[in-house]
Amino acid sequence: MPIPSVNLKPCLDAAEPAWRARLAAMFGRMHFILGEEVAGLEQELASAFQTKCAITVGSGTAAIEIVLRDAGVTRPSQEAWTTALTAPFTGVGIAAAGCRVRFADVDPETLLLDPADLGNRAGKRTAALVPVHLYGQPAPLAPFRSLARSLGAVLIQDACQAHGATHKDKPLAAYGPYVCYSFYPTKNLGCLGDGGAITTNSLAAGKRLLSRRDGGRRGGQIAYLPGINSRLDEMQACYLRAFLPRLGEWNGMRRHVAHLYEEGLRDCPGIRPVRTSSESVRHLFVIRAARRDKLRSWLAGKGIGTGIHYPAPLHLMPAFREAGCKRGDLPHAERAVREILSLPIYPYLSDASVAEVIGRVREFYRR
Ligand SMILES: Cc1ncc(COP(=O)(O)O)c(C=O)c1O
Repeated sequence: MPIPSVNLKPCLDAAEPAWRARLAAMFGRMHFILGEEVAGLEQELASAFQTKCAITVGSGTAAIEIVLRDAGVTRPSQEAWTTALTAPFTGVGIAAAGCRVRFADVDPETLLLDPADLGNRAGKRTAALVPVHLYGQPAPLAPFRSLARSLGAVLIQDACQAHGATHKDKPLAAYGPYVCYSFYPTKNLGCLGDGGAITTNSLAAGKRLLSRRDGGRRGGQIAYLPGINSRLDEMQACYLRAFLPRLGEWNGMRRHVAHLYEEGLRDCPGIRPVRTSSESVRHLFVIRAARRDKLRSWLAGKGIGTGIHYPAPLHLMPAFREAGCKRGDLPHAERAVREILSLPIYPYLSDASVAEVIGRVREFYRR
């Protein structure tokens, strides 16, 4: 049986009665934008993520753009710093706000944005820091919070891969004013299209963001604040409200899969693990592999799907040329992209399938 890198069907099946009931009620109301489902989801997200406000938006990218706009980081003279190893959309969201995107290097063990490297590079134009909780592992938030304070910058967390994660027993929102989430279908909490959310403990920011995502309106046809049109559909909220109560259980299943990989690949020649902690919600399981591309094709030949997150660092992508970086500037990220490989991980992935992947990886390096 082929083992895909990700499979959404088991989760969709497990929550089917709940989303079907919500969809039926929604069709009964015939209200498709900013209605009862979105309002209910926002309350439930705030409670699940232990934050005062949750504001849904059209995507994770839009969440990043809107919070930068809300923080007033919208001019090319203002710099927003993030990691070179992330989805391009982190950079896309920053650039969309109008500020200048800048990149710093990663910690070579965790592959998370390195606060020390960022501290050495950031200067007085720095207006925002955007660490990413990559692969489900929270970035070291206390150093980023101190750095943001000392630079007079706003701290924005990209938690698009870290639904349900906490850091040092505190909710992510306790560390800074804005936390951004994506509900892209493959995320730990995903819908069946595009979607996203922002969490904040500031009631004032929460109120502004509710308006900004809806064109700056406050329910009527007057635009009070500069805003954008980025609203989560009622239909997507139906799916998310069916999935959210299962997030803890599904994150537990991901942790179980990751644990099996860690045990099974311990001391495997050719493999170096990416360092994680028990805080990780294991969005992806990433290894660093010798002869990565050959391993990937070999696994594909055995019916095992893998991914590369990500094949190039953002500072070397043509779209981010204006960041002013060249090859060699961020050596840890540049090396990592040549070695990283994401193995299959998702809730309900069977122990037998994980064992098959482990066996095939070991077989490759024995040959
Ligand atoms: C780290 C990270 N940031 C931002 C995004 C953007 O989210 P979306 O695809 O919902 O716009 C994603 C997802 O693609 C992501 O993984």
